[in-house]
Formats: sequence, structure tokens, C-alpha cells
Amino acid sequence: MNSGSSADLSLPATYPGGVNQFRSDGSLRHLLTLEGVPTSMIIGLLDTAQGFVRKIGKQRPALSQALHGVTVANLFTEPSTRTRVSFELAAKRLGADVVNLELQLSSRVKGESMLDTVCTLEALHVDVLVIRESEPGVLALVANNVAPHVSVLSAGEAHISHPTQGLLDALTVRQYKKRFDNLAIAIVGDIQHSRVARSAYQVFRALGVPDLRIVAPPALMPKPDEFTGCSRHATLKAGLKDADVVMMLRIQKERMTHASLPDADRYFSKYGLTPERLAVAKPDAIVMHPQPMNRGIEIASDVADGTQSVIRDQVSNGVAVRMAVLQTVMERVTAE
Ligand code: CP
Repeated sequence: MNSGSSADLSLPATYPGGVNQFRSDGSLRHLLTLEGVPTSMIIGLLDTAQGFVRKIGKQRPALSQALHGVTVANLFTEPSTRTRVSFELAAKRLGADVVNLELQLSSRVKGESMLDTVCTLEALHVDVLVIRESEPGVLALVANNVAPHVSVLSAGEAHISHPTQGLLDALTVRQYKKRFDNLAIAIVGDIQHSRVARSAYQVFRALGVPDLRIVAPPALMPKPDEFTGCSRHATLKAGLKDADVVMMLRIQKERMTHASLPDADRYFSKYGLTPERLAVAKPDAIVMHPQPMNRGIEIASDVADGTQSVIRDQVSNGVAVRMAVLQTVMERVTAE
């Protein structure tokens, strides 16, 4: 790989087209975005994940040795609980070796570039790089420069993309609603700064959801050229009416200036999901949240912990989805 240290990070809001995520035979090599992933491949990943869901929990040691001899490295430059733990568990459930690099404790802090760090991991025979990164474009840079046998998986990139979150959200919806072609899904909150919302939009569009809505105060709405095809709503009353799925989002404080941060109490008074506000959705609507949640800001505790909440299912499905993705990208490599 090249070990240069400069990167062009001036990327558009949607994923840049400069990364080819597929091998020449059409198989999935990298997963940085769900944009451009064929619907048949998305359904295949969900089916594979669903197969793992049935097995996880019954059997705690490795479920298979599909990734025996494979080494997975987790590199996170932003905090994470769910994504990092579930990628590690997923790799271990498939028999892989896992290394977790704490980037703030690594030689990155001495000035080593991401590409030199990746180059070092390649020399240590790492096969899969799972990267969470706050700078847009770093994942594409890495994917465009790694050795041919190495796969790069996004664990969340800036405000741009969180593809495995999108897949686990779709799996959760499918478990409860069975089909996508009759659903009204409302995504609520800080859409503008949310990679979760972008990946959810991409996956639900691909799966044919006919009624996709985004609900946010004007300051947190994305630009008009994004989320095309979604209806836009300024109130929960309008956006949640007869919805089948209500997906709440955290305010991404880390991507805002202090001056642009909404006041928490005022935000909750208008956009916080309470039982009364949820009542305008369908009676069997499910409530989702990618977490971490800020109870009392975007969601009331009695909704987060209530009977319509599927938030814990989302977390559990994260392991199965990441197993499916790891197994899929390594299929050609482990077959050799
Ligand atoms: N949903 C999600 O990405 O959670 P973490 O930040 O804890 O990984």
C-alpha cells in the first residue's frame, strides 16, 4: 500500500463515488456505505444475519470456524460501546483472531498517519480493518490503498455513513413488520448530523419502503438535495401520524458548535418522544433508537423502556449483522 499521509477530505455529504466496494467477480470486499449495494445483496446479508440470530444465545463459544485464521483489527477514533463490542464478538463467534487498537494510546499520537498505521497492521497480517472515524474520507483513503486481500469495514464515518447500523436497523424492522413495501417509517431528530439516518435512508429506500419521513426542527434538517423522496415534517404530530416505525436520533453534540446546540428542555418539549406523542402512530408501531440515548432529551424513559421499544433487539442484532458482513467479505479469501 502507499504510505503517504495527506488526504483530500473535502467530500460531499453523500458518499463519494471513488471507492469500489466490490471485487471483479461482484462479491463484496469493503463496506463503507450502503449506497450502491444491490438490494439482492442487502437481503442476502439480512438473511445470513437472521440465521445467526437463531444461534446466538444458545451457544456462547465460537458458532463456526468460518473465519479461522483471519485477523480482524478494530480501529476506533471516536468512542463506541455497541459497535465496537459487537464487531469483536462477531469476529470471535466466527473463530477469528481480534485485535483492538486504542488509537489514542497508539503511535498515532506521535504523529503516525492513518495510512502508516494501516501499513503496519498489514505487515502484521491483519485481514479486516474495522474503522470508526470522525474525519470524512479517511475510510475511502484506506480502502483505496490497502493490499488486495484486505477488507475495510466502516464502523461509522463522521456524519456520512454507518452501514452496519443501517443493516441491523433493517433486520430489526423485518423481524417485527415482516415486509417493507407497506411501511411508513419516521426518522426523528438531528438528521443533519446523523450517519445513522443516512444509512437508514439508504437501506429503507433499497428495500422499497414507500413512505419515508424525516422529522426535525429546521436547524437540524438536511439540505434539500439529501433524503430525496422523503416527506419532511416540522412536528412530531404530523411526522408520526399512522407511522409503523419511529426511529429516534440523538443530538450529535460532537458535530455542532456550542452556539448551534439546541436547549435540551426546549428540544424535549417539542421533539421528545413521550407516550402521548407516540399515540398518533399506529398502535403496533415500534420505537427504535441506535443509542447512546439521552433520556429526557430525545426520548422519555417510559417510551425507551416501554412495550413498543425494540431498542434492545437492535443491539442484539448488531452481533448477527456484523457476523454476516465479516463472513461475506471474507468468503473469497477463506475459500482460497
Ligand atoms: N449505535 C452506535 O453506533 O452505538 P456506539 O456509538 O455505542 O457504537
